[in-house]
Amino acid sequence: MPSRRSFLSKAAMLASTSLIPSLKAFSKEELLTLAAYKPEKSALELATDEDYWWQIQQAYTVSPQIINLNNGGVSPSPMVVQNAVDRYNKLANEAPSYYMWRIMDQGREPLRENLAKYAGVSPEEIAINRNATEAIDTVIMGLPLQRGDEIVMTRYDYPNMLHAWRQRELRDGLKINYVELDLPAEDADLIVKKYVEQMTSRTKIVHITHIMNWNGQVIPAKRIADEAHKRGIEVLIDGAHSFAHLEYKIPDLGGDYYGTSLHKWLSAPIGSGMLWVKKEKISKIFPLIPNDKPNSDNIRKFENLGTRPFMIEQAIGQALNFQLAIGNARKEARLRFLKDYWAKEATKMPKIKMNTSLKPEFSGALAHFSVEGLEAGKMEGELFAKFKIHTSPTKWEKLDGVRVTPHVYTSLRDLDRLLDGVQHLTKL
Ligand SMILES: Cc1ncc(COP(=O)(O)O)c(C=O)c1O
Repeated sequence: MPSRRSFLSKAAMLASTSLIPSLKAFSKEELLTLAAYKPEKSALELATDEDYWWQIQQAYTVSPQIINLNNGGVSPSPMVVQNAVDRYNKLANEAPSYYMWRIMDQGREPLRENLAKYAGVSPEEIAINRNATEAIDTVIMGLPLQRGDEIVMTRYDYPNMLHAWRQRELRDGLKINYVELDLPAEDADLIVKKYVEQMTSRTKIVHITHIMNWNGQVIPAKRIADEAHKRGIEVLIDGAHSFAHLEYKIPDLGGDYYGTSLHKWLSAPIGSGMLWVKKEKISKIFPLIPNDKPNSDNIRKFENLGTRPFMIEQAIGQALNFQLAIGNARKEARLRFLKDYWAKEATKMPKIKMNTSLKPEFSGALAHFSVEGLEAGKMEGELFAKFKIHTSPTKWEKLDGVRVTPHVYTSLRDLDRLLDGVQHLTKL
């Protein structure tokens, strides 16, 4: 543990640079300085530069009393984003229908353009909504399918999406063919083969979760999508855990439809999400909340949400700026470094089983582990009661343990404490 003196001298040293954030809310200039910081360093080199990440940590207002290692559930926003929500909220409350519908509403098109640019797609293919569930359910519930049509997915896909497809199975006589995956998986050829084996002449769509929430497994989405397309099958991608976490553009994954939350890895305000639909597919998807032109090819037909929190939507722009200032490659490298920092040490301890691959192509920030003889609830309860470490107890299919998810504000000190907690678990 660093001494108080070394902490103060580090703070003094950083205060003398122009990078120190004022009141934890970066100004535009500071974000630009951050983006240009140490260009000579590769993303991998910068991943271990604690001076740089210390400054990112200062942008957040997380509780020093609790070590939050469940950022996979939902992530906090940096101060710059929180401030924007507060400002827009105050403005909205001066005259809600005027400021929300006439003033703030004008911000949606520039936001759409910025999100589209970041995601590498056309703004005419991006709809802004409230979360990944809403984005992906729009496609699941809106796709015209006939009795007997088949869907390929796994039992490790996210429960909300399993529920949506099962509801359609029940209501419309569809059939789900499940891919039997064993997690963690480190053989990309085998993963692809297992998906392909479930595709038949009746399969209409393959549902792929790019990063599995349970254990952080990265699925080779593009290779599976290519196999599906060869057979005339469409592809829906759940990017809730990979957007603004791994470095890629949406078209790199080869899907036809893609949905994500923005309140996970982008650190946008809680209750923000995004849907992408390939331009030529928009007209055939019925919106989840109907408008007057359900067959239109205008992506905005998916945004007929009724009265909504404009302040949350508008502050997505600040989160995007913050993300761009760090840079995707740097962020991905740092997140993987944080995961490796604790997971590699934990793996050496007795009774520990790591249920996440530590190979970079199969995982990012999320990792799941179990302790021989302990079930998920006990592990999570002990970590919180004794160490005030908040994690996610994860029991699903063959997994039974705890999921740990750091974020860019997580310090190595936090992870050292986690390792103390893991050691404690091995002694129970
Ligand atoms: C893989 C995956 N998809 C979708 C979702 C749903 O996200 P939201 O609750 O923001 O709709 C989650 C949430 O954890 C997830 O992990």
